Amino acid sequence: MPATAATVGELLHRAAAWFAAAGIVCAHGAADCRDEAAAIIYHVLGLRHDDPSAYGRTLSDDERQRCEALLARRIVERQPAAYLLGEAWFAGLPFFVDRRVLVPRSPFAELIEARFAPWLAPLDRPRILELGTGSGCIAIACALAFPGSEVLATDISADALAVARRNVERHGTGGQVRLLQADLYTGLAGRFDLIISNPPYVPDGDLVDMPAEFAWEPHGALAGGADGLDLVRRIVGGAGAFLEPDGWLVVEVGGGSAVLEAAFPHVPFTWPEFERGGDGIALVAAGDLPGDNAPPGRGARGE
Ligand SMILES: C[S@@+](CC[C@H](N)C(=O)[O-])C[C@H]1O[C@@H](n2cnc3c(N)ncnc32)[C@H](O)[C@@H]1O
Repeated sequence: MPATAATVGELLHRAAAWFAAAGIVCAHGAADCRDEAAAIIYHVLGLRHDDPSAYGRTLSDDERQRCEALLARRIVERQPAAYLLGEAWFAGLPFFVDRRVLVPRSPFAELIEARFAPWLAPLDRPRILELGTGSGCIAIACALAFPGSEVLATDISADALAVARRNVERHGTGGQVRLLQADLYTGLAGRFDLIISNPPYVPDGDLVDMPAEFAWEPHGALAGGADGLDLVRRIVGGAGAFLEPDGWLVVEVGGGSAVLEAAFPHVPFTWPEFERGGDGIALVAAGDLPGDNAPPGRGARGE
């Protein structure tokens, strides 16, 4: 191999080796470090990942230097590629991202792409509530997967909602997705067929030990309290009052499945497995949720 990379494939090969030697952590939507290096190189060069000729394409000096500058920043700053590029992919769709929002990477993408089959019966123009929308990726992907659906997407962070608004416009989903600043269910009304959420769920003790890449993300998108489930408890405890009788709650807890099962021992959670990796998403039917499924104001019980 020449001293400098002559082709996209050679640069990719070198970049993957640089990333591995630097010990960076590629856990923000990339399958591995080679995948994250490819995201940077292909983005800088405006190449499509499904273009079979891209790999062997010859690089000009300027192209190689532009790629190498960003690859170097990825190593030195430990900044996830999605923030360096201002873009992340989720459920096959591109989203604008910056440090105001979590980098999209939830296994929710697989559920949405499959329209929640085989776990849920087919949904026809469902009313969906998403709690903690961040970049809006889950809400927007749902809107596109379910034509005619209505999605209310909330977040406590006005900064995150500004990013979500940009993505709603980018994907032309303004007619379906409504954005609202709210603390979980506070101030909400009505009933939904589906409540979905990927809330913050990292236990306090784990936050300090996380790789440097995670420090670039908003603290409020990760921090889940002492055992990680501060918000998840409120989401599960409150969902019954906002779901239709045949509705479902789908909530991500990451590694917190045992803690969740222990917190709600009488709730039969279902835990899907994912082909593309990831775990920790629980499904539960409205009728199996704690409380009396009463409308807001009638005092739904916690467990
Ligand atoms: C883990 S991120 C998920 C973002 C996005 N849904 C995704 O999957 O990429 C959690 C989001 O919940 C929001 N959040 C945190 N506390 C909240 C609360 N009390 N009420 C509503 N949203 C909250 C954060 O601002 C953040 O955007």
